[in-house]
Amino acid sequence: MSHDPVTRPPEPVRFEPSGPLTGTLTPPADKSISHRAAIIGAIADGPTRVLNFLDSDDTRSSLSAVANLGAMLNPEPRDFMPDEFTIEGVGPGGPRSLGRIDVGNAGTLMRLLPGWIAGYEGGLWRMNGDASIRRRPVDRIADPLRLMGAEIEVTDGRFPPIRIDGRHLHGIEYELPVASAQVKSCLLIAGLRAEGPTTVIEPLATRDHTEVMLEAAGAKIERGDDRVTVWPSPDLRLDRVEVPADISSAAFFLVSATIVPGSEVVLDRIGINPTRTGILSILGRMGADIKVEPQDKGTGHGGGAGGGGEPIGRITVRSAGLSGTRIEGDEVPLAIDELPLVALAACFAEGETVIADAEELKRKESDRIAVVVEALSGLGAEIEATADGMRITGTGSLRGGTVNSHGDHRIAMLGAVAGIASREGVAVVDMEAASVSYPGFEADLRRLA
Ligand code: S3P
Repeated sequence: MSHDPVTRPPEPVRFEPSGPLTGTLTPPADKSISHRAAIIGAIADGPTRVLNFLDSDDTRSSLSAVANLGAMLNPEPRDFMPDEFTIEGVGPGGPRSLGRIDVGNAGTLMRLLPGWIAGYEGGLWRMNGDASIRRRPVDRIADPLRLMGAEIEVTDGRFPPIRIDGRHLHGIEYELPVASAQVKSCLLIAGLRAEGPTTVIEPLATRDHTEVMLEAAGAKIERGDDRVTVWPSPDLRLDRVEVPADISSAAFFLVSATIVPGSEVVLDRIGINPTRTGILSILGRMGADIKVEPQDKGTGHGGGAGGGGEPIGRITVRSAGLSGTRIEGDEVPLAIDELPLVALAACFAEGETVIADAEELKRKESDRIAVVVEALSGLGAEIEATADGMRITGTGSLRGGTVNSHGDHRIAMLGAVAGIASREGVAVVDMEAASVSYPGFEADLRRLA
């Protein structure tokens, strides 16, 4: 996160060693699903009622972007996010044909939105974001969109800012070179307007929130084992989306309650879509005491031919001793955003933990291999970077020290959790970065601890 050069950056925030964590919490709404509600709601023809939309910097960037493209928000979120609002989508008429779109820190917005606008002939858009966004590759969407007929210019061959010149698109069959839900989603959204079917083949399964929401909106879509096909679907009607709580935010409490002795925390109404629950199986294999009870899912996404929605559940976690494990292959995309937390848990485990096949971590809000290794080794952990992940030798505890988030929200929150579980406490530099996905994180952590 960048700071105004004339104002001093805020002081580091200290997290002291804590007693057991106890209590019940519903973390904020899912970031991935909120982005999709904004974008698919804007594409749809007519109003979508959105309940429990995530109030964070990233998802506000999505709302501003779709509002600039012509979607109407009622009431408009200002100082606070209403519990419920309506997005009046632009429908087949398409987005406003000109503009600059600032995605801030939001990689999901940067990768998904071009799928919508690239197919509108006569439109011209420029998309850019913060310093972190300008280091994150977009050739992964530009290349396949060009195969569909899109006209996209990127910077230095692969980075934002990007320029999109709307063109008539045609469907393709595309095998993703890297497992990425963002790229898959971009192409499926582009396929809604392309001529003929668009098929995306995935090397490994990734989160399927776009497929779930497009089905609910009545898109013509077919899902196979390793592929998904969408046909032109000009008149989507989403009607209603209720966003569940984010398992990626819940994960900070899953790990803190596991590693702080005597803890018992209940996390309520969490999205437990199986393409997101890798963290539960990894921690379970390490010996964590985690119980999941499904809760009703009936009120998820409504309308359209698909109906259905996102499964939700109550997760109870109690502290437990852990042992090391190996994370690789198809488990990686199912826990991609939680791997830094797995590394932290591994410091408290007995034996060695290896995270492999996770080179994608280098392309997140920061280089999460380098930054996690820097953060945890600075706190006394035995951790080293490998070419495609990291190796951690558990020592059963962490000394403490300082963690610099490098503007990465998940690293800021990782530092806070490390602090309450450490022997001497942790000072987190740029804790404010947490607001990208979880503005109230510090207060929630202090309440449970
Ligand atoms: C996301 C997909 C993942 C994840 C990101 C959100 C999404 O990225 O890391 O935080 O909402 O589709 P990739 O699909 O690029 O791996």
